[in-house]
Amino acid sequence: MQEAWWQRAVVYQIYPKSFKDTTGSGTGDLQGIIEKLDYIQALGVDVIWLTPVYQSPQNDNGYDISDYFSIDPAYGTMEDFEQLLEETHNRDMKLIMDLVINHTSTHHEWFQESAQSKDNPFRDFYIWKDAGNDGEMPNNWKSKFGGPAWQWDEQTEQYYLHLYDKTQADLNWENDTLREKLYDMMRYWAKKGIDGFRLDVINLISKHQDFPDDNQGDGRRFYTDGPRIHEYLHEMNQAVFKPHGMMTVGEMSSTSIESCVKYTNPKREELDMTFQFHHLKVDYPEGKKWTKAPFDFLELKQILSDWQVGMHEGKGWNALFWCNHDQPRIVSRFGNEGPYREMSAKMLATTLHMMQGTPYIYQGEEIGMTNPNFTSLEQYRDVESLNAYEEMKAAGVPEKEILAILQQKSRDNARTPMQWTDGEHAGFTTGEPWIPVADNYHDIHVKHVVQQPNSIFQHYQALIQLRKKYDMITHGDYQLLLADHPQIFAYTRSWQGERMLVVSNFYAKDVEASFSYGQGEVLLSNYPDSSTDLDRITLRPYESVIYKVN
Ligand code: GLC
Repeated sequence: MQEAWWQRAVVYQIYPKSFKDTTGSGTGDLQGIIEKLDYIQALGVDVIWLTPVYQSPQNDNGYDISDYFSIDPAYGTMEDFEQLLEETHNRDMKLIMDLVINHTSTHHEWFQESAQSKDNPFRDFYIWKDAGNDGEMPNNWKSKFGGPAWQWDEQTEQYYLHLYDKTQADLNWENDTLREKLYDMMRYWAKKGIDGFRLDVINLISKHQDFPDDNQGDGRRFYTDGPRIHEYLHEMNQAVFKPHGMMTVGEMSSTSIESCVKYTNPKREELDMTFQFHHLKVDYPEGKKWTKAPFDFLELKQILSDWQVGMHEGKGWNALFWCNHDQPRIVSRFGNEGPYREMSAKMLATTLHMMQGTPYIYQGEEIGMTNPNFTSLEQYRDVESLNAYEEMKAAGVPEKEILAILQQKSRDNARTPMQWTDGEHAGFTTGEPWIPVADNYHDIHVKHVVQQPNSIFQHYQALIQLRKKYDMITHGDYQLLLADHPQIFAYTRSWQGERMLVVSNFYAKDVEASFSYGQGEVLLSNYPDSSTDLDRITLRPYESVIYKVN
């Protein structure tokens, strides 16, 4: 079986702003990442993904790019970037950059030009539309950060489209010159020697050209996995990825298995793998994010399993992840922040890492960082959270309840500074951090974890090593067991006569189970003495075991 290198790889995601500050500015920087490369290498990962470090006004922490060719001075210089790339390669790791090409910042020179006049040559790089007869917006689409997706421009008397913040204007992919300019820019980075791209909300770039009103939703069905998306991705692949041998992972908003099979089946030459988010909406009752709710465990199992089976059958490839810079911390979310923090962090890691796909670890996950549980609005920075606050306030939701919802759902939960030590500001900065450090840094920090026996960090190391060793993790098929069990997540992976059984207890109480595999050999467990008698096993709180079975 032919195997691409990234199929057995594990990726570490860095959010530079919160990783390590070397200047005392309170914001992390590229030199800070360089300082920590040995730490990342020790984990055993193959690839580093850097969220955007390009020049940006930072309204959405770099996802609003104003110049694709330069590094934001807050993070350092192009020389710093080149040094980071070289030092990463020296350690046998690869580096992929974040590519945000659904939109640019309104500070980007293309937008600035575009906003000059209706006949400016750059006008068509963005999506401008007339107002209706009574000044109404071109359609009723909503921004994903709240409010309408259209912003009025006084000077040229038209609206422009922004699916995110009003300072993130959507690019018009129908324009051939724009596409060529973007491919040129990507080749610039390819030639610099980077190893690939993570493509931000890439399945939104092709909009339905009629721009119809959406009477059933917020407009997403008219631009998600849109009419020309596969054509654009194939074109991009031929123009950039394939000639430069790049690894690609697309972030797919509200997508389907069917579409992701198409995006990632190698025969189609589009992308290598995709992030999908359905398994992280199991605590959005009726699709509503801004409510406080427990997660639906049965649904979680079913969704992850459907994606395992569907992508395997369609010969696509999943990116596997619990955490990123947009999601609350996983121990706080599906695990246990209290007495079982370490156990549950390991259990969650095991459950995900033994699936088929390429696992991603988000900074701090490997030491079991939690949500910060902020108690006042002043501690939040994220534009989406602040907009959501205003919207809930306007809708009459009591202040206390809004704060409780933000505590559970805000993207800032993932963005607090990396906890390096129990010293001041967790060793992240000597200055004032741009966002508060979580209070628990006294107990949860890297310095402690790297010398602790049986740490979460070591557990991640062991999972990565298993992936390198056993072909069945990369190639095997997947079968969910006990689908309706309210407490146990169990599945098998089988490949060429080898089989493993992964069993996890997702809750803090003991549970018994029985599997028809007789005796199992423990490959990894989060308890030192897990039972090997699979006919009847008792799983302790958050116990999670990988068995080799016949
Ligand atoms: C992606 C990014 C998120 C950003 C959004 C708009 O979802 O991960 O952080 O706000 O795209 O660029």
